[in-house]
Amino acid sequence: MAAYAAILFIGDNMIDKDLIPKHVAVIMDGNGRWATKNKVSRVSGHNQGMLAMKDIIKRADILGIKYLTVYAFSTENWKRSAEEVGGIFKLLVKYVASELEELHHNNVKVRILGDYTQIPDSAVASIERALKTTENNDGLQFNIALNYGSRLEIIRSVKKIAALACAGEINADDIDEEMISKYLYTGEENGNVPDPDLIIRTSGEERLSNFLLWQCAYSEFAFTDSLWPDFTPDEFESIIEEYTTRHRRFGGR
Ligand code: IPE
Ligand code: IPE
Ligand code: MG
Repeated sequence: MAAYAAILFIGDNMIDKDLIPKHVAVIMDGNGRWATKNKVSRVSGHNQGMLAMKDIIKRADILGIKYLTVYAFSTENWKRSAEEVGGIFKLLVKYVASELEELHHNNVKVRILGDYTQIPDSAVASIERALKTTENNDGLQFNIALNYGSRLEIIRSVKKIAALACAGEINADDIDEEMISKYLYTGEENGNVPDPDLIIRTSGEERLSNFLLWQCAYSEFAFTDSLWPDFTPDEFESIIEEYTTRHRRFGGR
């Protein structure tokens, strides 16, 4: 008897659920240009970006994606004006206040990638509340990369491993890919997030800007000219659909 494959419809197209990416990472870029285009402040652009993000989380969940990682603030973004940086963290507080209940209701587990202890206290308190509230959820894992930089993350992992070696707990020869991965933000402290299958960047820029450099070794990429606040769940879905037609080879044939 024929087994029924688990399928999902994207528009009229039947998609095998096994082809849906497990982990999608998004570089949410273009809030500032959206603000300029719409003659509003940059912080208003970030606010609009936050609204776009809410809708993408919901669609990711509907599509059966297990991990969604968003790049919200990089270690380099501190170079921006105090007004913009402060505005971004205020928005984070606002986001947690307005959305945490629904995220929790939807069984979403929130995780932070990055050193969030360096951000303003009010934002740290909001984050800790979000982490605590959702810690036992087992639905979509929503990773927010916040004060995140991949090179720093790799340095941090290497330092932890060096300390183990100095303490005589490991030998240099024990160091392998698995060990380096284990001590990244995506490693054991955040439930061992699998490498991203797909990385999406909006706003027409085609670079990684210090995002998931180790983890992206075999990721697929998708770029769109849409500015992040204009990026819709339907566009997200059509990128996912296109991804399901790609042939990933991981070095094999
Ligand atoms: C992305 O939008 C959000 C953050 C980096 C916090 P930008 O603020 O980088 O938008 P552009 O690139 O200036 O348009
Ligand atoms: C990357 O965007 C960081 C985030 C989206 C949070 P940037 O706008 O900071 O990147 P660059 O400066 O254009 O490379
Ligand atoms: Mg930008």
